[in-house]
Amino acid sequence: MTEKSKTFYLETFGCQMNAHDSEKVVGTLEQQGYAQVHVEEEADLILYNTCSIRDKAEQKVFNRLNDYKKLHKQGKRFGVLGCVAQQEGERIFDRAPYVSLVSGSASYRKLPEMIARLEAGETRITGLDDRKTEETFETEFTARTNPYRGYITIIEGCDKFCAYCVVPYTRGKERSRTSTSVLMEARRMADSGYSEIQLLGQNVNSYRDPEGKRSFAELLAAIGELEGIRRVRFTTSHPRDFTRDIVAAIDSVPELCDHVHLPVQSGSSGVLQRMNREYTREQYLERVSWVRAAKRSISMTTDIIVGFPGETADDFIETMDLLAEVQYDAVFAFKYSPRPNTPSIHMPDSIPDEEKSRRLQSLLERQREIQRINYSLQIGKTYEAAVEGHNQQRSQVIGRTTQNKTLNFTASSTILPAPGSYVAVRITAAFPNSLVGIAVS
Ligand code: SAH
Ligand code: SF4
Ligand code: F3S
Repeated sequence: MTEKSKTFYLETFGCQMNAHDSEKVVGTLEQQGYAQVHVEEEADLILYNTCSIRDKAEQKVFNRLNDYKKLHKQGKRFGVLGCVAQQEGERIFDRAPYVSLVSGSASYRKLPEMIARLEAGETRITGLDDRKTEETFETEFTARTNPYRGYITIIEGCDKFCAYCVVPYTRGKERSRTSTSVLMEARRMADSGYSEIQLLGQNVNSYRDPEGKRSFAELLAAIGELEGIRRVRFTTSHPRDFTRDIVAAIDSVPELCDHVHLPVQSGSSGVLQRMNREYTREQYLERVSWVRAAKRSISMTTDIIVGFPGETADDFIETMDLLAEVQYDAVFAFKYSPRPNTPSIHMPDSIPDEEKSRRLQSLLERQREIQRINYSLQIGKTYEAAVEGHNQQRSQVIGRTTQNKTLNFTASSTILPAPGSYVAVRITAAFPNSLVGIAVS
């Protein structure tokens, strides 16, 4: 009698690093003889790859785990992976007793062994990091979900310890992969049809090649020069480690995308200091000036936290003014959320939630107006769009520019360009968050 194949279901929360970790977890489990299913009821093993960046994200996980109590009765096994797993550790077994596996991302290398123990019937398996591991999670069995555009993690963990942030505690210490291994993976991807590569790290430009062969900018350039690669992106840059040679690389290697995501968090030097960001408003603006001085038109985007402990009305005005000064193409703004284990949990969360909401709202409105104007200035210009798909009526093609803007366009013939192809598009209309155009090739 043949044994019924083992199945798993995996749901992912959080950032791109988590999304890519999940691709590697899927590949690893498939290697262990598991088949992925997309309905919980059909799975033997249910996994959550979790995020704890803000309280809401963490609550989502526990709500979902609660929902699954009933499935436990059907004999399914449960595992919690990712940042909530690392943060809460064994406490998860107390809050959700039917969970048998708890593992942070720094322990995924041990997944095959942990899965074997799970199959042997163990019920309290942990993979928890003590910020000591030097290892990175590299595997050739990555189950990438997109056949044209793929992630490569080049650096894991974080040593920055921003006052508000859980990541240094949930993802372990900073450790880089060798540039040889990154380039090998990029070459393999290019050979199998990938044309866009996105390099990932919580601080991608803190990258230090353990072999000392290439700087981050040199690694970027080397990937851009690989045969078959049309676009290279990287995220996230930390202003402190953002150097001029990155801008020079973008200027000289056409395959590097015209986009830098450079989280500022606040426009007030006082707030930045209390956040432990290790740069001032002036130093941040100096980096912006390097980007603006490039020969290419490089788009900038950012992250902002409003309502950090002690943020005054004047501090907030400085952040608002910074938006006008930098002219970002997109801003991801969040209300400050006090997080366990972080230094700022000891600072009084002094700003009422309504005030945080009010600041968030006015910031987003100001930014929307900036984007409305800047996006409309693109009308009449021609950009290359990477085709990502088609809308439901198949009347429009969904694309993305090198500046990372959404560009929806009408094709020039009845045969729509296929996902993964590149098309020149003339911009005919603009919204605050997307462009509209017509194919010219
Ligand atoms: N490594 C990146 C960001 C990682 S987290 C960097 O250094 O910029 C993504 C974003 O979440 C952060 O940029 C920040 O804006 C936001 N964030 C992190 N912790 C937060 C908290 N406690 N409350 C609100 N937003 C937070
Ligand atoms: Fe968090 Fe700061 Fe590290 Fe970014 S740099 S992950 S915000 S601690
Ligand atoms: Fe969330 Fe962890 Fe990413 S906390 S944002 S999943 S690093």
